[in-house]
Amino acid sequence: MDSILVTGGTPLNGKIAIAGAKNAALALMPAALLSEEPLTLTNAPRLSDIATMTALLRSLGVEVTSMQDGKVQVLSSHAMTSTTADYEIVRKMRASNLVLGPLLARHHQAVVSLPGGCAIGARPMDIHVTALEAMGAEIELKDGYLHARAQGGLKGARVPLRFASVGATENVLMAATLAKGTTVIENAAREPEIVDLAECLRRMGAHIEGEGTNTITIEGVDRLGAATHPVVTDRIELGTYMLAPVFAGGEVECLGGRLDLVGSFVEKLDVAGVDVSETEHGLKVKRRTDRAQAVDVTTEVFPGFPTDLQAQMMAMLCTANGTSVLEEKIFENRFMHAPELIRMGANIEVHGGVATVRGVDRLKGAPVMATDLRASVSLILAGLAAEGETTVSRIYHLDRGYEHIEEKLRGVGARIERVSA
Ligand code: EPZ
Repeated sequence: MDSILVTGGTPLNGKIAIAGAKNAALALMPAALLSEEPLTLTNAPRLSDIATMTALLRSLGVEVTSMQDGKVQVLSSHAMTSTTADYEIVRKMRASNLVLGPLLARHHQAVVSLPGGCAIGARPMDIHVTALEAMGAEIELKDGYLHARAQGGLKGARVPLRFASVGATENVLMAATLAKGTTVIENAAREPEIVDLAECLRRMGAHIEGEGTNTITIEGVDRLGAATHPVVTDRIELGTYMLAPVFAGGEVECLGGRLDLVGSFVEKLDVAGVDVSETEHGLKVKRRTDRAQAVDVTTEVFPGFPTDLQAQMMAMLCTANGTSVLEEKIFENRFMHAPELIRMGANIEVHGGVATVRGVDRLKGAPVMATDLRASVSLILAGLAAEGETTVSRIYHLDRGYEHIEEKLRGVGARIERVSA
């Protein structure tokens, strides 16, 4: 298994191009199931999760054609052969559950494996199921699979979500585009990836209003057509690379970065003593002094502080001046990066969903292990600031969500390389 070797101490200067959003693309690709005409996605990220979604859709009979080194994906589901999402693929990536809504909407049936838990939590699907049942679906759990049917198709309904689940909002949003009548999603997730999906569905002919707010109204139509849609910038990759110069010093411009995607994150960076300025091509980031300041962080649904940037922020705060308290309110077990950072000399105490980080002068390079996607990148960032060498193992987690991370960081002066075991 590959690992990544990082040698700390070099300030970073230059530009990093931010890719299309993994979590937008993983919802946009299943949207192709809603129409028999082709969906073309541009600015698509090149990631192993995208390859997994491609494999899943191909197993259903969807034609997926990759062009321009994977930056353009053309998907066509005019010749479907199956409506069963197999455990072997779904267990690798929870986002596979996003085929449930579209399959039900267009084919009135679906068999989708439960994804099972993952490192950061149990991640059940009760909110998805309750919502689709409100639209007339009959869903039964058997042998680890959700068996779903919608005799005569789905019906528009009022769908209150008990929690603003991103995936459940996406499944219902897609399903409602072809339902008979009007659907109102209440307490809908407001993430930019939801807005991006709504914009794509509208291009396909859907009637949607209110995306980005907590109430989305969808008027069902008989069929959807072809569309071409650019995948929105990845706000989590953006936030991750914005932190790189905060760890290592220097100044980095993140090309394609947009302030509206990272508002609450930038507010916390400001308190931590980091300057973020808008440029013609993105966002420029520089630490005001040679040491960041401690800041408290609580993860919330959008537009609050994103859980997917919590690990990266914790890693940065390990060497900040003062004590920071981080509260993880979205997932039940998302502090697995803490023990690895402690191996590097960090002072972190975890009690349930709260981590207290007391800043130390400097971390020391060490062999560490990636446990999930965002934890793995937080260890890479920590290695940029640490004294000596850090080896991060199990980096298959990393390749799920960060394309060409070594090239991007080497491009701004980092000493980083991938070593094959
Ligand atoms: C999406 O996951 C993202 N993944 C996650 O990013 C992100 O962390 C998460 O939203 C929260 O922002 C994709 O978009 C592919 P949720 P999702 O449904 O949709 C509970 C990354 O690093 N819940 O909003 O699965 C759930 O257990 C990944 O890129 C239920 O209880 O997240 C969790 O505690 C990690 N029942 C919370 O809600 C349900 O039916 C948030 O889940 C659904 C969710």
